[in-house]
Amino acid sequence: MTETVGTTMPRIGDAAPDFTAVTTHSQAMKFSEWQGDSWVILFSHPADFTPVCSTELAEFARRADEFAAINTKLIGLSVDSIHSHLAWVENLKQTLGVEINYPIIADLDTKVAQLYGMIHPGESATVTVRAVFIIDPKRTIRAIIYYPLNAGRNIDEIYRITRALQAADAYACATPVNWRPGEKVVVPPPKTVEEVAERLSHKGKDYDVKDFYLSLREQKVA
Ligand code: BEZ
Repeated sequence: MTETVGTTMPRIGDAAPDFTAVTTHSQAMKFSEWQGDSWVILFSHPADFTPVCSTELAEFARRADEFAAINTKLIGLSVDSIHSHLAWVENLKQTLGVEINYPIIADLDTKVAQLYGMIHPGESATVTVRAVFIIDPKRTIRAIIYYPLNAGRNIDEIYRITRALQAADAYACATPVNWRPGEKVVVPPPKTVEEVAERLSHKGKDYDVKDFYLSLREQKVA
């Protein structure tokens, strides 16, 4: 994949821009190579040594095994230096007793932040908002969530939506409001008169058919 330079605002369905960056785990990490065949949660925080960010980075680290179990790698980013990142990681170990076990990108020149549209000037002209990009193994951006500077993210929701996207891919379904793994999934609506008749024939049998366009079914998820 070629590298891109300049300010962009990637959207859902776009190819995840590739880049090479300094991280807490590598002096020159090529993003696509580091990703390999995994899903990725790429998330930015506004600044090192700040309270809300500290709680978020620590919680991502505590939950890293859960993400690894669903083939998902975590990677953070801010426009701080590598020296600041390394000192903060050390500090979080001392203050919160948490080892930050995933890389953090040092994006001092804002190259990656610009590439992913992580700086929202109305919120701050100088630091990244709390952006979350969920990227699938084909390197397509599958979900984007933005939070402002003053509200910490919900890691449960980031985990939940990753599971939902993986279930949609594996079982050709969609997921309803507040879906959790193990709950019923949505059967894609019929597209022809013939398919409508076919769908209605499931009523009272294997699908929970509310109407021809709204059916749910049981789905065991791995
Ligand atoms: C925080 O993480 O606490 C924070 C960072 C930047 C601006 C406001 C709050």
